[in-house]
Amino acid sequence: MIKLHGVSKQYHSSGGSFQAVQDVTLDIQKGEIHGIIGMSGAGKSTLLRIMNVLEKPDQGSVEVDGRELNRLRGRALREARRSIGMIFQHYNLVYNRTVSGNVAIPLELAKAARTERNERVLEVLKFVGLLDKADQYPARLSGGQKQRVAIARALASRPSVLLCDEPTSALDPQTTGEILEVLRHVNRSLGVTIVIVTHDMDVVNRICTRVSVMENGRLISTQPVEVKPNE
Ligand SMILES: Nc1ncnc2c1ncn2[C@@H]1O[C@H](COP(=O)(O)OP(=O)(O)O)[C@@H](O)[C@H]1O
Ligand SMILES: [Mg+2]
Repeated sequence: MIKLHGVSKQYHSSGGSFQAVQDVTLDIQKGEIHGIIGMSGAGKSTLLRIMNVLEKPDQGSVEVDGRELNRLRGRALREARRSIGMIFQHYNLVYNRTVSGNVAIPLELAKAARTERNERVLEVLKFVGLLDKADQYPARLSGGQKQRVAIARALASRPSVLLCDEPTSALDPQTTGEILEVLRHVNRSLGVTIVIVTHDMDVVNRICTRVSVMENGRLISTQPVEVKPNE
């Protein structure tokens, strides 16, 4: 589903250049929940942004759902991006729009018709259990609710992949459990392949099927995570 081959990325600044990601090769299977773990600065977020074409690698190839992303242009690139959802540690919601308004954003960008858009917004809000918050503004929601709005927004355009950058790092343990439950539901009932970047091994053990470890820009191992008998 996601194939990285020999991917490298260097950042340049006045202080010199810095190798953020170095020669990463990784094959994430369809239907997986794949964890990427490592210390701060290891290159995890850069790697996720490369999977989402927010960042272009200096070397290597990135294939998502059978498409070689760095060769796509224009409309084909926009369509490929639409099949990849992303959520972040700090939710990245638009605070002057309601919950519905936030979830509608990707559908507006895709120029979906109004009735179709409204139906889809309600459908995904129901999926994440926030139908009753549709007309509220994000500032009035708890952290867990905000992250569920972000998940609903990411799901609106029916992605095949959901990339999560530290999705629970700003949440308390109980809310973390709730969000992991929503992500498991996204994976199981919608068949969405999930990549979770985290520095929390507990998150990996609770939800991931495999985990890759990053250190200083390199991927140093990928292993299966033991199945949890009670889940
Ligand atoms: N836009 C950027 N410009 C310059 N350096 C960056 C940029 N983004 C990240 N870096 C550097 O690249 C390294 C890896 O960053 P990042 O991918 O965010 O790591 P992680 O998510 O594992 O903490 C860090 O040392 C960071 O300072
Ligand atoms: Mg990061």
